[in-house]
Amino acid sequence: MSLRRSYTIIAPLYDALLATAGTGLRAASLAQLPREGNQEILISGIGTGLDIPYLPPGHTYTGLDLTPAMLARAKGRIGPLHLNLVQGDSMSLPFASECFDHVVLHLILAIVPDASACLQETARVLKPGGSVLILDKFLKPGESAWFRRTLNLLSQHIVTRFDVVFEEVLASVPQLRMVADVPLLAGGWFRGIRLVKS
Ligand SMILES: C[S@@+](CC[C@H](N)C(=O)[O-])C[C@H]1O[C@@H](n2cnc3c(N)ncnc32)[C@H](O)[C@@H]1O
Repeated sequence: MSLRRSYTIIAPLYDALLATAGTGLRAASLAQLPREGNQEILISGIGTGLDIPYLPPGHTYTGLDLTPAMLARAKGRIGPLHLNLVQGDSMSLPFASECFDHVVLHLILAIVPDASACLQETARVLKPGGSVLILDKFLKPGESAWFRRTLNLLSQHIVTRFDVVFEEVLASVPQLRMVADVPLLAGGWFRGIRLVKS
């Protein structure tokens, strides 16, 4: 099953499963976006738009997702924000280079089949000095995590990967530098990470 097909099935259930979980984490991550100025901000893998209530007004947002059923739900959350929704692939972004000031990657980097391609594309569309906000689950370098790695054999095709080591992904994108890395949930399995493009 493709991720697009499985997220089409998951879409009507997604908010019931995740709307309350991680609310504070989303808010804290998105509080790092500037409050002033009209900046261009990409939310890659926007899903049903659970981030939307925490986005500061005044910026121009683009929300991208692979799955039309998820985008249809995000559309209902836009309200007064200046947010355009685009169907597309986070690993091959349909945008010019260096056109965004910030990129949000909440629960997408460890979802896509190729996290390095996703982060490389993020770096390409980001302006120099721009930032990337990441919220996701990652294995630590050298962590055996046999249960998660075994589960990953099936889950990577349906909903998410469980075997992504963030440090390995970051090493493939030398333009991005880590400036913050905060352990959040489940003993640091979930992390809040901020990167800056040099
Ligand atoms: C776990 S949800 C996260 C949604 C949202 N970011 C959030 O924090 O709730 C993963 C999302 O990634 C989308 N997705 C999966 N593969 C994708 C890809 N290659 N490009 C863009 N979006 C993708 C799915 O359609 C789904 O909406």
